[in-house]
Amino acid sequence: MMHKPVLLKEVIEYLHPKPNENFIDATFGLGGHSLEILKYIKPNGKILALEWDPCLVEINKKRFMKNKQIILKNENFKNIKKIVKEEKFSQIKGVIFDLGISNWHYKVSQRGFSFQKNEFLDMRINPFDIKITAFEIINYFSKENIVEILKKYGEEKYANQIADKIVKQRKIKKIQTTKELSELILSVVPRKKKIHPATKTFMALRIYINQELENLEKGLKDAYEVIENGGRIVIITFHGLEDKVVKKVFKELKKKGAKVLTKNVVRPSRKEILENPSSRSAKLRAILKDDPKEK
Ligand SMILES: C[S@@+](CC[C@H](N)C(=O)[O-])C[C@H]1O[C@@H](n2cnc3c(N)ncnc32)[C@H](O)[C@@H]1O
Repeated sequence: MMHKPVLLKEVIEYLHPKPNENFIDATFGLGGHSLEILKYIKPNGKILALEWDPCLVEINKKRFMKNKQIILKNENFKNIKKIVKEEKFSQIKGVIFDLGISNWHYKVSQRGFSFQKNEFLDMRINPFDIKITAFEIINYFSKENIVEILKKYGEEKYANQIADKIVKQRKIKKIQTTKELSELILSVVPRKKKIHPATKTFMALRIYINQELENLEKGLKDAYEVIENGGRIVIITFHGLEDKVVKKVFKELKKKGAKVLTKNVVRPSRKEILENPSSRSAKLRAILKDDPKEK
């Protein structure tokens, strides 16, 4: 399988799907979580599946053409309220968010998400919605601006050194590819044992370009509004900045009566990490809607 769904058993445990219930998969990807949820909501439950990447939607349309239980939309989850209204999707028992991008993006998309490949510096999840690419940031943004992006979205302590080198290098020749950028970073950031020196820069660029933290805050707040009372939201994050937004929104929702179901954050088992190393940084949190106004 191109993308192995992370924390699958735990997602089902916290989402608690039952026959004929409706759910939203806010980050459909290749449908790993949805396919599991479908097993529990037969025969008439439906999944409203949102996926922002138009290429993945095309692939999925072919795969799920005959499946009447999945309603697939090429949409950003920040528009969840609008989509639910347009689709007249109701009695929503839960929403699953599995954040970030999938292995398909790193391995197949050819959009420059991986520093292990040699591809054009693009990094847009949806090239129709987003105009700015990593190439433009690296080659045309001011040094100060690049430093700010690397610090804010990558917590990169070598931000100054990296930006300095970028600005010097691009005067000689434009930096076009992931390989050029990762080699440049390798020349200024010391190599540590586990994580590649380019990891934080690539993460920062991707988060900034796709406005991932802004999408997350809006999507999560609005997801809470569209679910029924007693409904649940399960969310899987992959880095500290995402988890920080989730904790902040959950804190706000608690004031509205929501109950946090995960006292402690849920992490993959050692077995899962061994079988699927991409799961190693995953953290799952879940919340239950309990809104006195809707009773
Ligand atoms: C980690 S993958 C999900 C994998 C999926 N759960 C599976 O099992 O195949 C995250 C997916 O969310 C999509 N995505 C990222 N930001 C999004 C957004 N704002 N709205 C909708 N989809 C988004 C990405 O394109 C990616 O396919």
